[in-house]
Amino acid sequence: MKGAAPGKIILFGEHAVVYGEPAIAAPLSKKVVVTARPGTGKLDVRLPRGTKLPAEHRAAGPAALLERALGDLSVLDVRVDLGVAPMAGFGSSAALAVAALIARGVKGNRRLLDRALAVEAVAHGRPSGIDPATAIWAQPIRFERRGDDIRVRKLAFEPFHLVIGTAGVHGGTAPVVAQIGELREAAPKLIGSAMSTLGEAARAGATGLKKGDAVLVGRAMRIANGVLDALGLVGDPVKDALAHLHAAGAEGAKMSGAGGTGGAFVAIFGSAATARRGVRALAKHGIHAWHEPYGV
Ligand code: PMV
Repeated sequence: MKGAAPGKIILFGEHAVVYGEPAIAAPLSKKVVVTARPGTGKLDVRLPRGTKLPAEHRAAGPAALLERALGDLSVLDVRVDLGVAPMAGFGSSAALAVAALIARGVKGNRRLLDRALAVEAVAHGRPSGIDPATAIWAQPIRFERRGDDIRVRKLAFEPFHLVIGTAGVHGGTAPVVAQIGELREAAPKLIGSAMSTLGEAARAGATGLKKGDAVLVGRAMRIANGVLDALGLVGDPVKDALAHLHAAGAEGAKMSGAGGTGGAFVAIFGSAATARRGVRALAKHGIHAWHEPYGV
């Protein structure tokens, strides 16, 4: 029994998606692969080179997720190849949940999404579902959720080039989502308008991707990042990375995922050559990032 699912990067709409705004996400070329066979409870988790599972990380560990996806682990030997760095905002727990469900034989995007949401609730608290949806659809998507009504649509796009990486320490998604919830209670209209701006950035970003207009996508990313920064979600290490990316010629760049003290970031470039220049510029400052082309 074997299943594989990609990690994800959110291009637009993180946090706002929790309040019904649309979000745009794309799968990574990095994947989680789960292989399970009848056995005696052995669990072998292989991490990407240079990464560690933080001892006291707040998301659920692989064993808890696997147990919920595969059932009794004591009668299985399971191997997990975690090609997606954990605790970075790349959706590793959702990819793990989806890969395990596929290994178990669960079929159909909708059924996989329902099951993955239930599995992933251990890691996230009340996740919107954008992470498992991207892992399941495995292509760029527009995701929208109002209550239990979840809409996932394939995104139309012309070829585009992202540079993706992480900087600083990700403190876990649930506390950051809770913090934004408290802010919203204190200032519902103000935070509501911030969320609708993030939703508009997602709509403009989707239009830009459809037209192959990297400048428009970049502008929408810059505006979204300004709002996310004002909400306290762009940590200093991420700010530094974004500055290097802009200096290297990115059309736009932003934090991605839950954010907080650090975490993932994403930038759009006009070509493969400029994207590679962005990766090199970050490497000079000791920041790990890579180039992901889409539709190329
Ligand atoms: O999984 P993360 O850390 O990339 O965050 C997901 C995006 C949020 O909107 C902050 C939370 C959610 O469940 O949608």
